Amino acid sequence: MKIMVIIAHPHMNSSRANRAMALELKQYADVYCRDLYQEYPDWNIDVEREQQLLLQYDRIVLQFPFYWYSCPPLLKKWFDDVLTFGWAYGPDGDKLQGKEFIVATTTGGSEKAYRSGGDNWFTISELIRPIQRTITKCNGTFLPAFVTYNVSQGSDAYITQEAKRYAEHIHTSMSVLAH
Ligand SMILES: Cc1cc2nc3c(=O)[nH]c(=O)nc-3n(C[C@H](O)[C@H](O)[C@H](O)COP(=O)(O)O)c2cc1C
Repeated sequence: MKIMVIIAHPHMNSSRANRAMALELKQYADVYCRDLYQEYPDWNIDVEREQQLLLQYDRIVLQFPFYWYSCPPLLKKWFDDVLTFGWAYGPDGDKLQGKEFIVATTTGGSEKAYRSGGDNWFTISELIRPIQRTITKCNGTFLPAFVTYNVSQGSDAYITQEAKRYAEHIHTSMSVLAH
């Protein structure tokens, strides 16, 4: 399975978790990892190129730090620009049909905070529903997310362990992830 990881982190240089995750993936030949903020410092996304890349991969991972209960804005712009009518959805908009998508995100908040009654009220699954619906509107298959919680409190050993768990998660088959 060919996997493309699209990273959207505005401050990758000061990142702990997302940087460790990206580094971990370097050892996998089947994973093509890219960084939107590095590739498009002017935010001028090359739509044609992005669409051509999407066609070449079976599984697309959207990796980002959780910012205000959502993704950083360049990834939102990527959805807006790349998932076009007649290509990703609408008449003949079937180019993402059958492709698998996984959200991989990191949070400052603890896992306990992300539950009904907890500090953040909602689970990550609930909070990423707009992304889930974006993908399913485009006939993609939305698989369970990977989440590393509590990054600011986590030790280096925790971050390293989570990066390994991340690599495993994105290599796990749909049947195992979804059931
Ligand atoms: C602008 C901004 C918004 C953030 N919003 C949230 C949030 O909504 N929930 C949360 O748990 N953490 C939030 N955080 C914390 C980040 O998610 C956390 O620092 C990041 O996931 C750590 O990953 P990194 O080491 O790769 O930067 C926010 C941080 C910033 C800078």
